[in-house]
Amino acid sequence: MFFDRPDSGELAVLVHLELSQAEASNDPREFEELVISAGGDPAAFLSGQRATPHPKFFVGTGKLEELQRAVLEHKAEVVIFNHELSPSQERNLEKVLQCRVLDRTGLILDIFAQRARTHEGKLQVELAQLEHMSTRLIRGWTHLERQKGGIGMRGPGETQLETDRRLLRARLKSIHKRLEKVRKQREQGRRARSRAEIPTVSLVGYTNAGKSTLFNQITDASVYAEDQLFATLDPTMRKIELDQVGSAVLADTVGFISNLPHKLVESFRATLEEAASADLLLHVVDCVDDERQRNIEQVGEVLEEIGASELPQLLVYNKIDLNDAYAPRIDRDESGKPVAVWVSAQQGEGIDQLLEAVVDLLAEDVVHTTLLLQPSLGRLRARLFKNNAVISESYHSDGTNELEIRLPLADLNRILAAEEMQSSQLEFVDPSGQVQRLAV
Ligand code: GTP
Repeated sequence: MFFDRPDSGELAVLVHLELSQAEASNDPREFEELVISAGGDPAAFLSGQRATPHPKFFVGTGKLEELQRAVLEHKAEVVIFNHELSPSQERNLEKVLQCRVLDRTGLILDIFAQRARTHEGKLQVELAQLEHMSTRLIRGWTHLERQKGGIGMRGPGETQLETDRRLLRARLKSIHKRLEKVRKQREQGRRARSRAEIPTVSLVGYTNAGKSTLFNQITDASVYAEDQLFATLDPTMRKIELDQVGSAVLADTVGFISNLPHKLVESFRATLEEAASADLLLHVVDCVDDERQRNIEQVGEVLEEIGASELPQLLVYNKIDLNDAYAPRIDRDESGKPVAVWVSAQQGEGIDQLLEAVVDLLAEDVVHTTLLLQPSLGRLRARLFKNNAVISESYHSDGTNELEIRLPLADLNRILAAEEMQSSQLEFVDPSGQVQRLAV
């Protein structure tokens, strides 16, 4: 494998500068958390201010000396910047500091490498890592000959530059090819699901919010049925059965991180696309995180970037077990539509309420009713069958056809339009057994 991980935490010196220039400011507190989740052990945190980055070292000479002292004092193995560094800045810093230097993209890639769950996700991370690395391989890493492994460098022996270059090119080519194949499969799966009109519910949220825990809880709580459409065995997708709605797909996604470097958004677009094509987003939030509001906004920005900000969204406040003031509940707006639910994915609390809210939101656009059709409406009956909308059928003694149907409202309207009918011309049986006119 190209990217092996060492077990122990690496001693790291962190660097964060406030720049007066345009660079989007990356939160220093989040930076520290990211380093920890990458397996780093922050030994020192250096911060400062600069108008613009120094072209050669990013930091100024005074700060560079400070950095040198910190590396020696703490015997740091890696220096991590909360900024993008150019390949030459990274190399110049490594020469002076005599230890590995990693920028924000390298750090985030390392975190993604640990968390990628699907085959495709893993390939994407590897591709992005190799691409990030290839620009840094040009003049070799001879100044760091003895370094091996560590955050952002789980990988190739960097002493044999030529071999590395050749391997890198071959590896990039083979990953591109495999990714293409996986993408095609995924696309086929998505098309098949949309033909079968199975709605997709995607879990999105800030990294560590509890998406995967919730994913497992929901799939445990709902009837799980093996299905042909999922034969590709994507571990982040499951078919679930919901009251009134029927089958739905639940999809997990990679955790979002604020100010995701743009080229990473590009690399992970395919994974994120799953969220962008969902019918409903479950936005999972760690409700006891001090940064909860900021995280919600950050996720909102990523959703905007992938064109998913207009999709119906339900906030899922998770981890209520960590604060006694919270209990499982559904928050609804004035019209009764669910906007948020409070759950503990770990304890399995509030999962029923969550499913209820999901059904409410998905069923909003789904008609589930029992029609009474006169024998003259045989063509309509045939169209409903063709649309896979019929759940059950029976006949009354007078020849009236009783048809239990479930289909998206838009499809019903299309079928009725094709028959030049209004919904009010149809009769249905209400839950109390009364026959009513349908008006949708
Ligand atoms: P990424 O993979 O980074 O996107 O994380 P995620 O959102 O999938 O989070 P994950 O499910 O891995 O959970 C993150 C951490 O929070 C784990 O240590 C979980 O055990 C913990 N966790 C998840 N849900 C709950 C909860 O309801 N209560 C508590 N106390 N902890 C939770």
